[in-house]
Amino acid sequence: MQPTADFIAGLPKAELHLHIEGSLEPEQMFEFARRNRIDLPFKSVEEVRAAYAFSNLQDFLDIYYQGAGVLQTEEDFRDLALAYFRRVAADGAVHAEIFFDPQTHTDRGLPFAVAAEGLLAGMAQARKELGVTSKLILSYLRHLSEEAAFETLKQAEPYLDRIVGVGLDSSELGHPPSKFARVFKASRERGLKLSAHAGEEGPPAYVWEALDGLAVDRIDHGNRSLEDRALVKRLVADGMTLTVCPLSNLKLCVVDDLRNHPLKRMLDLGLRATINSDDPAYFGGYLAQNWMETTQALGLTRDELATLARNSFTGSFLAPDEIAARVAEVDAYVARS
Ligand code: ADE
Ligand code: ZN
Repeated sequence: MQPTADFIAGLPKAELHLHIEGSLEPEQMFEFARRNRIDLPFKSVEEVRAAYAFSNLQDFLDIYYQGAGVLQTEEDFRDLALAYFRRVAADGAVHAEIFFDPQTHTDRGLPFAVAAEGLLAGMAQARKELGVTSKLILSYLRHLSEEAAFETLKQAEPYLDRIVGVGLDSSELGHPPSKFARVFKASRERGLKLSAHAGEEGPPAYVWEALDGLAVDRIDHGNRSLEDRALVKRLVADGMTLTVCPLSNLKLCVVDDLRNHPLKRMLDLGLRATINSDDPAYFGGYLAQNWMETTQALGLTRDELATLARNSFTGSFLAPDEIAARVAEVDAYVARS
């Protein structure tokens, strides 16, 4: 029997791959534009949604960076975060690790503190009002220089006790992880966890570089790892978590059909895959929608869903005792449901 939507909603789970700027719904885009007196190139929410037809990652990034321009104040960032946490709490998530792209905001003149303070305020409120815990990850934009990433790390200095790690996102092809080896080393020396988008559009060689050149704790996406048998073996041996994003992969044409998505194959190979939403306002669904559509398309079993839920905690940046407690909650839920 196929697991039901109720089973999925009740399953304790974490989201590990979410760009907060990618949770900006068209309605919010208009609301923030109105309160900040910004002109949008769209007349209606429908027109915005109609523009969300992408053939590849860059198509999406162009519109995503443009959308982020409506975020101007700490309050905007706090409201954005809180709206996301409300949705993900309704999806049964108890923990979320969210990326933000500081350079998208500092490059248009906002101080680093605006996004950081706003998001941290939203995270604190979500914990209090919804009981959802969270961690903040700053992501370097890989289409910019390593020098620019160093500047961002410097600006983040006053917040490093409240930022759990760094990531690497934006246009993957032509910007291999090795370009950022020094800034990742410096980030590690400051006690930060490390993750990098790799193998979304880029080749398996980029995943190798993220492992050997950056020494990451987590790989974001990682789909194309399956093209390289030795790489799969290495990822399994390392117990490396892959933060996979099925609806994102469909929308950005990384897969042609959800029924051909590699998630089940990843699990069969012993890879620690997880399900995440990436940029849910742009890709057609939040966390539970990703779980549900993937379950239906691939015929995932209850056991596989339980494994995915456990992976979402073992791959998190929570402390070991917190991870153990969350995994026990998954086991208890599965035993009684
Ligand atoms: N920034 C936001 N979403 C992204 C994705 N899926 N890949 C690379 N950069 C991103
Ligand atoms: Zn991403």
